[in-house]
Amino acid sequence: MFLQALATLSAILLSYRVLALIRNYLEARRLGLPIIVVPLCWQDTLWALFGGQFEIIERLPFGLGSWYKYSLLGWNVKDCAFTIVSPLRNEVVISDTTNIREVLGRYRRWEKPKELYGLFAALGPSVSSVSGEEWPRHRKVMNVAFQEKHMHLVWKSARKQAGQWLRQVQGQERDLKELAEDCNNLSGNVLMYAAFGQDREFGESRAEDVQENRIKSFYETMQYMLRNMPILWLMTKLRLPRTFEPKKFTEFRQAKETLLLHLEERLQTKDSDFLTSLVNASDSEKLAGRGILTKTELYGNLFMIQVAGQDTTSHAMQTAIALLAANPDIQEWARQEASTYEDFEKPVRLQAVMYETLRLYGGAPNMTRISLNRERMTINGKDIVIPANTFVSANLSAQSYDPALWIGASEWRPQRWMESVDNVEAIKKDMPELMAWSTGPRNCPGKKFSQVEFTAAISKLLVECQIRGSPGLQEALNTFDNRATSRPSTQEIASITFVRRQP
Ligand code: HEM
Repeated sequence: MFLQALATLSAILLSYRVLALIRNYLEARRLGLPIIVVPLCWQDTLWALFGGQFEIIERLPFGLGSWYKYSLLGWNVKDCAFTIVSPLRNEVVISDTTNIREVLGRYRRWEKPKELYGLFAALGPSVSSVSGEEWPRHRKVMNVAFQEKHMHLVWKSARKQAGQWLRQVQGQERDLKELAEDCNNLSGNVLMYAAFGQDREFGESRAEDVQENRIKSFYETMQYMLRNMPILWLMTKLRLPRTFEPKKFTEFRQAKETLLLHLEERLQTKDSDFLTSLVNASDSEKLAGRGILTKTELYGNLFMIQVAGQDTTSHAMQTAIALLAANPDIQEWARQEASTYEDFEKPVRLQAVMYETLRLYGGAPNMTRISLNRERMTINGKDIVIPANTFVSANLSAQSYDPALWIGASEWRPQRWMESVDNVEAIKKDMPELMAWSTGPRNCPGKKFSQVEFTAAISKLLVECQIRGSPGLQEALNTFDNRATSRPSTQEIASITFVRRQP
């Protein structure tokens, strides 16, 4: 009886999905772009979380699994404009710079979808999770905290962390997985110092403690939350009553409560200039009668800063270090300049290294928005009407690998960003737009923060040591292929070593 009911229910669900797929397919045909049909997609919660485990589908014979990569969240393909048709919502993919600017630039018409960005409201609404008229209120306060005058904190902390890191690992081979962990630790500590006034030593917390949430300090609790965001995703989707929820859910809930207590304490003590600016900015907006961030919104934004700033910057650093190790001539070129400055306004060669790294290996290969109304757009020379409630994804991978925009598009060549003005090296003005930090009003407010951190840490490493790469390094880098994380199997076959330079 039970099995029969289950079979009937499954048949109903399956028929519903097939019918929805057909309806969406017919709608997509009207757009006139190439179509890719996916039976499952990132809009299915379980597939979003576990779909990445089924890479075997891609290897099915006769191209039967060719849909697989398009079904995942953060797909990474170099195709230009097309429509992904699924049983849920259609997703139009664009890669032309003008189209991308149009969508990302008009935040009132193209909103961040709640399905994706709702997660960034883990502790309360944040600049990244809100849309429409709500967003400027958050962003205004955030912009004050990210002012230039706080960047010396970032510089100071990144130099200290890089120096301590070097002392701990010099002479040892670090495979790419260990390199990633080291950079993550560095980047997490810099944020803790600059944003929250917590001065930490490099390598102070062990990864296992963070994983198990054993130590309940501010840092470990924050890291536990960051690493377990998929649990939050499942919790919000499943909404199980507490009696039925698995242990992991309860642990996550407890960590969230602990983190709120830590944030409350930080807000009371206002241990950093950054935090003080954030709170003061919110208060002065209140005085000016323009609305204020509530306490929950302040918590939401503080958590968001760590979510948005840690992995992104650490990913840029780890990739650049590996690339510098694999390209000793470019490493030497960057080192020549690194020995000549002591503050964050000067470096241009390392800025070029960062730009070029993010162009090819940007942490966000695509960015998705949803159309609130019917929208007209010219794609590939054709006028297209995109229906309301359609996902549109900016394919940043395709834009940054476009041979029509970039000469030798797939080569990592930081020098492409340089020019000489009156015999002084500078970043070239007339380059195609680099969209790694996004574009338009909702671009990344942490851009300068990440640049200062990157330059401070890498210049310290370059001046004090040679970064040597193992023989498998270039091969491993080829498999990174613009992904936010490369596959562990390739991470472990290659390594780098910091070898101290003679003074
Ligand atoms: C290399 C490092 C970084 C990269 C590549 C990067 C990239 C991005 C991108 C692409 C977005 C737009 C996301 C979207 O619209 O879906 C974004 C937004 C954001 N980033 Fe970054 N980011 C970096 C570092 C940072 C840092 C260090 C912080 C904070 C300390 C930060 C804070 C934020 C915030 C708060 C937003 C949301 C802005 C809004 O919606 O108005 N980012 N970032």
